[in-house]
Amino acid sequence: MSDPIPTQVAAVILAAGKSTRMKSKTPKALHPLLGRSLLDWVLKAVKDAGVQRTVLVVGHQAEQVQEAVGAECEFAVQAVQNGTGRAVQCAEELLGQWRGPLLVLPGDAPLISADLLRALVEEHARTNAAATLLTAKIDESGSYGRIVRDAATGDIQKIVEARDATPEQLEIREINTSVYAFDPAKIFAALRQITPQNAQGEYYLTDAIALLSGQGEIIRSVVSTDADIVRGVNNRAELAELTSMLQARVHQRHLLDGVTILDPLTTFIEDTVKIGQDTVIHPYTVLSGVTDIGQDCVIGPGARISDSQIGNGVAVRDSYIIASTVGDRTRVGPYAHLRPGSVVGEEAKIGNFVELKNTTMGDHVSAGHLAYLGDSEIGAGTNIGAGTITCNYDPLRTPVKSKTTIGRDAFVGTHSTLVAPVSVGDGAYTAAGSVITEDVQANALGIGRARQVNKEGWAAKKRLAALE
Ligand code: UD1
Ligand code: CA
Repeated sequence: MSDPIPTQVAAVILAAGKSTRMKSKTPKALHPLLGRSLLDWVLKAVKDAGVQRTVLVVGHQAEQVQEAVGAECEFAVQAVQNGTGRAVQCAEELLGQWRGPLLVLPGDAPLISADLLRALVEEHARTNAAATLLTAKIDESGSYGRIVRDAATGDIQKIVEARDATPEQLEIREINTSVYAFDPAKIFAALRQITPQNAQGEYYLTDAIALLSGQGEIIRSVVSTDADIVRGVNNRAELAELTSMLQARVHQRHLLDGVTILDPLTTFIEDTVKIGQDTVIHPYTVLSGVTDIGQDCVIGPGARISDSQIGNGVAVRDSYIIASTVGDRTRVGPYAHLRPGSVVGEEAKIGNFVELKNTTMGDHVSAGHLAYLGDSEIGAGTNIGAGTITCNYDPLRTPVKSKTTIGRDAFVGTHSTLVAPVSVGDGAYTAAGSVITEDVQANALGIGRARQVNKEGWAAKKRLAALE
């Protein structure tokens, strides 16, 4: 007797098809869907289900897909896309000797879950079946393959593709999701016998079911109550539908975890985003990539945050934050722009029209208005006056951008121009309107501007001259 719940499972994902209806230069598998490519959703489900080996069958635009997926799985190439049966056969070279259950699933149906895959494998192993099908009962069977069962026993006899079905078979509401668990030796043997005698002239994987059941093999099923799992993406309209469907699920997860989303309709949150309890998300907010937002934050309205770490109690209003880190209780915006590589400490303030790029700021730093701080390091407690600019770019020095270092508790006067590389020491001041080209020592005052001269009566004289 073999182990009832197998530990060694392999998977074949079918993604060789042409996907003409996407009308795109990008392979369908790589189209983004809420933070992951279509294919990554499937790969993630397979991985989360504990699958040991995954073979991706590629064909159309194979190089692009392989390059994007990288070392995540093994690849089999189906040079001619002549049917799902042939596609599975392409994996035989790699998995022909595999003895555990073999999952087969399409690469374009991203709603499949790891739980369902596990349930399918368990049912398959428990019943010692040759094939176990994941089926779904839906209201409109449309173009899906119909599951034909023996009227008396209820056993699965075959799958009939819609194009090849009789009017009675078209009435069947149980359909093939294209997700299967197989005994690898039995499915590879059956696939050698299938023929392309059907409406499309293709080698159908589904035909292997009739063959196996005809040979007296056990065919089992897991019937899903979730009709959505079968939903695939064939065109951009379906991609948009799936996006809003998944978006609703992501919102629901955060809402039930204690996050307030004031207007889900104008809030976009990718599946890869984490949000802490009691954080409030205001309308017109887009959170994407690998982003982690803490507790008790107020995000938006109008916040765009991607690939960033946001602490607890942070406020972000009408601002962009990209690939950056923001410490606890810091206030960002309105209209601030944190570009990649920015690290802001705790209880800091980044105000109106302040742009940061590759800049590290300590705690309690205040940059309230109109500043560009690039490639800088700014110590804790320092105040950056309105209109401060770090001049980090010199084409003769490119690609290296010059660095500005400002110490702790310094006071950079309004409209200071800091010509990097340059430093301002701890506790130092720069005078308003200065062009700072040389280092300012700790606790010193740097003044880099002409002293003011008042010319008495100058304006009056000008006016008189104009009258003459
Ligand atoms: C298939 C099933 C159908 C099921 C439906 C569920 C067959 C014959 N039919 O139909 O019973 O209800 O899925 O969505 O299997 N592919 C290849 N190589 C090929 C052909 C297809 O890799 O030569 C891949 C496609 O990229 C796709 C998957 O296999 O990811 C399914 O192929 P598709 O042509 O979309 O099958 P359906 O007609 O949808
Ligand atoms: Ca399909």
